[in-house]
Amino acid sequence: MTIPIKNKDGIAKMREACAIAASVLDSLKPLVRPGITTQDLEEAGRDFIASHGARSACFGYQHGTRRYPAHTCISVNDEVVHGIPTFRRILRDGDVVSLDIVVWHQGYVGDNAYTVPVGAIPAAVEKLLRITREALDLGIRQAVVGNRIGDVSAAIQTYVESHGFNVVREMVGHGVGVAMHEPPEIPNFGRKGTGDRIKAGMTLAIEPMVNLGGHKTKTLADGWTVVTTDGSPSAHFEHTVLTTERGPEILTLPRPPAA
Ligand code: MF3
Ligand code: CO
Repeated sequence: MTIPIKNKDGIAKMREACAIAASVLDSLKPLVRPGITTQDLEEAGRDFIASHGARSACFGYQHGTRRYPAHTCISVNDEVVHGIPTFRRILRDGDVVSLDIVVWHQGYVGDNAYTVPVGAIPAAVEKLLRITREALDLGIRQAVVGNRIGDVSAAIQTYVESHGFNVVREMVGHGVGVAMHEPPEIPNFGRKGTGDRIKAGMTLAIEPMVNLGGHKTKTLADGWTVVTTDGSPSAHFEHTVLTTERGPEILTLPRPPAA
């Protein structure tokens, strides 16, 4: 499948959708504290998305026969991605919570994620978050015209493993645009110099998912929540990136408030 190249209009709309996704994610971060539930975050996220005139790309998203039931994906500790918010999940000091926000706006999708510590977390988990965030940066730096997708993958995997952590294999980053998932797949593992060639005008969701323990994951009986099989905590950071002749441009950076 060929990788879509966005034209000027598509890029302008991607900018808008991604700015909204970034703003919603940024607004949720300060709400994370011990005692609130993942449903509280869901409701705040749902309302922020609506206040921007956007729609959640997760709500009703179909996978097989199931439809995702919430507007946000909120994954705690050993939950890697696609955690379903619930009032039964109360955040506690020492938890980590991954917020994944995907919005539709004017026919285009913006996708980003961030793992937030709840209160004080163990030093090893703090390092897991830092390394995953840095791995995302290193991956983005490889999203250069003329490189290949495998250059992004290899940069992420090499860095993560050099710090003794493991990348998730079952889920991957992806192109994003008029659909949440477009070609190409962007694994967080792979070899330099392999895969599709990167051209200008691609919009790519780069998203390392990194486990403190082994790389293996499984999906819970709810059909959505992906957890580590060994129960170790996991981190997830994601940006939507536009490739340009001047290098990668992160579209999901929160904008500074207007003066
Ligand atoms: N960012 C996630 C992804 O790319 C969002 C999934 S929405 C859900 O897969 F509906 F599948 F949960
Ligand atoms: Co994504």
